[in-house]
Amino acid sequence: MCGIIGYIGYRNKKEVAIKGLKSLEYRGYDSAGIGFINDKVYVFKKVGRVDELKDVVNNINATLVIGHTRWATHGGVTEENAHPQTDCSNNIMVVHNGTIENVDELRLRLKNHKFNSETDTELIAHLLEEELKETEPLKALELTLNQLKGSYALVIGIKGVNKLLFAKQDSPLHIGLGKKEFFLASDIAAFVEYTRKFVPLMDGDYGYVSLEGYKIFNKGKEVKRDVLEINWEIKEVEKGGYPHFMLKEINEQVDVVGNALAVNTSNIEEMISNAGSIHIVAAGTSYHAGYLLKLLLEKYKGIESDIVIASEYIFTKRPNKDTVVIAISQSGETADTLQAIKFAKRRGARIVGITNVMGSSLTYLSDEYAIMNAGLEVGVAATKTFTSQVAIAFKIVFGGRVNKEKIKQTLTSSLNIDIASLAKKCINYDKMFFLGRGLSYPIAMEGALKFKELTYKHAEAYPGGELKHGPLSLMDEDAFVFAFMPEDETFAKMIYSVEEVKARGAFVAAASPGNVDKVDALLKVNKEEMPYQLFSFIPLLQLLAYRTSVLLGNDPDKPRNLAKSITVE
Ligand code: M6R
Repeated sequence: MCGIIGYIGYRNKKEVAIKGLKSLEYRGYDSAGIGFINDKVYVFKKVGRVDELKDVVNNINATLVIGHTRWATHGGVTEENAHPQTDCSNNIMVVHNGTIENVDELRLRLKNHKFNSETDTELIAHLLEEELKETEPLKALELTLNQLKGSYALVIGIKGVNKLLFAKQDSPLHIGLGKKEFFLASDIAAFVEYTRKFVPLMDGDYGYVSLEGYKIFNKGKEVKRDVLEINWEIKEVEKGGYPHFMLKEINEQVDVVGNALAVNTSNIEEMISNAGSIHIVAAGTSYHAGYLLKLLLEKYKGIESDIVIASEYIFTKRPNKDTVVIAISQSGETADTLQAIKFAKRRGARIVGITNVMGSSLTYLSDEYAIMNAGLEVGVAATKTFTSQVAIAFKIVFGGRVNKEKIKQTLTSSLNIDIASLAKKCINYDKMFFLGRGLSYPIAMEGALKFKELTYKHAEAYPGGELKHGPLSLMDEDAFVFAFMPEDETFAKMIYSVEEVKARGAFVAAASPGNVDKVDALLKVNKEEMPYQLFSFIPLLQLLAYRTSVLLGNDPDKPRNLAKSITVE
């Protein structure tokens, strides 16, 4: 979701900007733009891919450059609405991630200005233009920020000022530290090729980078922030011989799961044991990992918790000082999840974060956190990070007793199961149902999410026992049912569910270590004790979605309408 790159230094500006934007593509976007400053401001924009933008950008000899991939929020997908946005005199260029809420009020204040787009971002350029009439750039930025309500990561260039200005509020922004060169980016992937040292900015931070260095301010005072080191390799931004990042990342699960299990979770375990109440909050795939954590805590430790969809949290929960909120987010930047924990913090709750991104907002908002160390996940669909989240859930529940080798072997054996013919079958169906019960229900939920995300087909997950309460009316020859059937106490009941849907004409596939003779296709997974058996299902649901998406001609790495990191509510 929107990406920013800014650069000041000695390298070729067009090259740094294009490469930066390419590495941000995975976040999702619909248009892109680049702006340079030397004797004047030069802006180039294009609806579509960065590769198309590259062809229309002149190689301007400039001191600084900014670039942006836009995911439309205010205003349609047009060249005018793409960033950088400029002021009336074309002296200021602005790239922005986030949403400004008091747009109408600001437009009234700027009624003498000429607007060229429908964006909230353009207002920022005009506000700054006003303030610059009275004061110097940094103060003008501060005065501009004071007028904004909403979220923003901003990078700004001003003609005649050899600095890039920046500001951050509820949207990620990092400074990349090179030698006599500095980067500003919403994601460290945009500068990992040039430097591994970076500073994650905090909410309320603003300042500048120049050829001489950088300065950060917050509430009018200069502040120092931590310098961190990137903990993954540049090769992770490459496909490494695989046709898609998603397939590469599915195959990496076996290795990265060990990194997640190496994390020390003892402080988290202690917080959970002493909590008055436990709320688990997350979105999408992370929600499914959270659901599993909830079930594991209850089943194996007798600890009760509530699992809540992050965007629903503020409407449904009333945390207090005895509450521990466990927030799970691959990116650590999902706005819904951050909003939930900020709300919980205001009410005195303590926060545990589980994330893949060191230096993400979630790490700074958490009292304790666990980093998955799964490496960069480029595919929009979460795969290896889901497995890592589940592994951390196992670690929290079973501590040092968790059996790493068992998890790795279980994943490896399932990765070898051929899913191609089942994927071929799937392309003929438009009604997909994923069934599970007990611990395998969150797995079924993840199966349905992955499938709909990548194939654009309707897919739903149900606990088998729920079928008779409505969904059975949908079962006929046009329905495809995928059942997850571990040999636990749910097995016999799942057999019954399978018979129920089969009797109504549905095509039924099952993944199970047991003998399920009533189904049309059986993916026989290796026998494993519960809850380890769950790991045998994960690669199957991912590969089914991946293979079907490829057969349908979709791009599994960049499913339509979706973005990797959802930094707006
Ligand atoms: O970064 P997060 O884990 O907080 O992201 C949450 C969801 O947006 C994410 O899991 C999404 O559902 C994935 N695209 C699923 O594959």
